[in-house]
Amino acid sequence: MKLANVLVVGGGGREHALAWALAQDESVGQVHIAPGNPGTAAVGINHPIDQTDGAAVAALARQLAAELVVVGPEAPLVAGVADAVRAVGIPVFGPSAAAARLEGSKSFAKEIMAAAGVPTAAARYCTTEAEFAAALDEFGPPYVVKNDGLAAGKGVVVTSDRAQALAHAIECGQVVIEEYLDGPEVSLFALSDGTSVLPFEPAQDFKRVGDGDTGPNTGGMGAYTPLPWAPAGLTQQVVDTVIQPTVDELARRGIPFVGLVYAGLALTSRGLRVVEFNARFGDPETQPLLRRLKTGLGQVLHAAATGQLASQPPLEWGSGATCAIVVAAEGYPGTPRKGDVITGGYADYIFHAGTALNEAGELVSNGGRVLAVVGSGDTLAQAREDAYAKVRQVSFAGSFYRHDIALKAVNNEISVGW
Ligand code: AMP
Ligand code: GLY
Repeated sequence: MKLANVLVVGGGGREHALAWALAQDESVGQVHIAPGNPGTAAVGINHPIDQTDGAAVAALARQLAAELVVVGPEAPLVAGVADAVRAVGIPVFGPSAAAARLEGSKSFAKEIMAAAGVPTAAARYCTTEAEFAAALDEFGPPYVVKNDGLAAGKGVVVTSDRAQALAHAIECGQVVIEEYLDGPEVSLFALSDGTSVLPFEPAQDFKRVGDGDTGPNTGGMGAYTPLPWAPAGLTQQVVDTVIQPTVDELARRGIPFVGLVYAGLALTSRGLRVVEFNARFGDPETQPLLRRLKTGLGQVLHAAATGQLASQPPLEWGSGATCAIVVAAEGYPGTPRKGDVITGGYADYIFHAGTALNEAGELVSNGGRVLAVVGSGDTLAQAREDAYAKVRQVSFAGSFYRHDIALKAVNNEISVGW
């Protein structure tokens, strides 16, 4: 079937990659992005509206006669933008506000996992200083303290410093304190139509800001796919033990999840555990994943939005590897420096996140994660080299990136105990 107009809601690197992949799909006519960014303007038509205003997004979707709306970021999902679009009868890929609580509330996610028998870290929900202290001492170091709300990837502190862990809990007020999970991390995405699911290949993300996994957590500084070190059958195991039981439990409660289930997993020595759920495509994992995806994106997102995933064949993937490097602005993940002119910012496989145009029409930095460069190759080593060669063509004052994205995987330094 043809989709004459598709509207992507959001304006970051994930939305640039989604809009790019939709534009590659022969069955998609025109791609629209609201609000978009200077990068998305090259693959579709930007519409400058408030992405969290459900009425405005629904009105735009009607005006465009959109046949599919794809909601990218967590903020509009939690604000109910998908509900507003669904209410006007347009197919939407993105969960309702109620289902997006899987990401928006750490305690809700834990409750669903407990009910569905999904393996995750043991955790305590705490609101008082006495509870914080008791939970920290129950689990011992390293301490894991999570803000019980949306925090754009920055609400989690993992530290062996008890005073720092306690201070973060006090600052947040409502937190989940949990046992530390060892082992490599995996990001596994699956499309869900509320009943059936269709998995992506796994990817790995790099959360810490500095080389060697040092410094504070970020939204993600790079990613690659596939994972040469992943145990055989990992994807099916995650579908069977994590994704399908979670989707089933939500459906049982009358809150079907239509959209992207993102399982952040730790492959610990005792088996796989869920670190977190997100209710949307991950950023930057989406950028390298969509560069490898061969299946038309519009078709499968529409199938998910209309309850037809069960009849879809498995997703098809390119045989090689892809690797994304995020170029960030000085100060990130704290307050980033903005307004610096970017050279080399427009090229194939550069996905814009925090960019804008200045009065002179020049491309400037406008956020913490400014853009992501995706390399590809027959092997992961080649994809990594391609990505770093491309990153060196991009520059702006104060920019930085990690130098070790995918390095351990290339050097065969990642192992799983099972
Ligand atoms: P979250 O926002 O829950 O994904 O946490 C952000 C990052 O903190 C994760 O990607 C992990 O690197 C780390 N993290 C979160 N929970 C744990 C845990 N229980 N044990 C070890 N690391 C964790
Ligand atoms: N890359 C992690 C996230 O999207 O939350």
